[in-house]
Amino acid sequence: MPETFDLLEHNAAAWNHRARQDSPWSRPVTSEAIEAARRGEWGVCVTPSPLPADWLGDVAGKDVLCLASAGGQQAPVLAAVGARVTVLDLSSEQLARDAMVARRDGLALTLEQGDMRDLSRFPDGAFDLILHPISNQFVPDIQPVWNECWRMLRKNGVLISSFFNPAVFIADRDPAFARQGLIRPRFAVPYSDLEQLSEAERAAKVARNEPMMFGHGLSSQIGGQLAAGFTIAGFLEEMHPSPRFEIEKYLPAFIATRSVKG
Ligand SMILES: C[S@@+](CC[C@H](N)C(=O)[O-])C[C@H]1O[C@@H](n2cnc3c(N)ncnc32)[C@H](O)[C@@H]1O
Repeated sequence: MPETFDLLEHNAAAWNHRARQDSPWSRPVTSEAIEAARRGEWGVCVTPSPLPADWLGDVAGKDVLCLASAGGQQAPVLAAVGARVTVLDLSSEQLARDAMVARRDGLALTLEQGDMRDLSRFPDGAFDLILHPISNQFVPDIQPVWNECWRMLRKNGVLISSFFNPAVFIADRDPAFARQGLIRPRFAVPYSDLEQLSEAERAAKVARNEPMMFGHGLSSQIGGQLAAGFTIAGFLEEMHPSPRFEIEKYLPAFIATRSVKG
């Protein structure tokens, strides 16, 4: 990788681009969904299906951080059911989706732009709940994120996170293999776009304005939360509804955990 490559700058621009392209992670909830939430009919997703209701409990009056979770999706719904919600995200365009919903539907949201690995702006014990959907795949080192989540939660606070099953990163993505129904192992886990793609493949990703990704192993995803001090109290897996890779036809691509600061 050229020494001048700035991961944060590149990924922020790539997510701004995705938001402008109306990616599934950037499609704001409708006013109807907010109205329904105000009537008590609501759910939020960190995997394709809504979370089990008992993972969230009653969030009214709670301080909630939506961590790297902008896009106008989870945060406005949680605000509509009475939570005090802060969103931190790297991408100004993703944050603009939350700002749009808040303005449109009369919701209060605190929006912060920044890197999930530096959460020093938030004091110790500032939150009751942190929601951290499918986003630690965009940073190479996630232990600082788990440690900071533990610091920012109050006692008995809950961290709900989701991430990709590391197995989805191992296969060669050449469509010629998929056309033959083949999964050809090529990449070891932990996986890094920066270290394991060829220079030409990386340049093609940059040209397509795609964010750089990292496939963390379970020792970072699960072991990292335990090392930070959390107890893992809930676990679920879900298949990808429209598999992008052959391997996703055979195992759940999404994993979510519910962890508690005891
Ligand atoms: C898959 S989206 C998740 C948000 C979405 N609302 C959802 O439901 O999953 C990943 C998010 O991570 C954000 N992100 C990527 N790198 C980040 C970083 N270093 N710090 C904070 N946010 C980051 C992106 O801007 C994007 O909004």
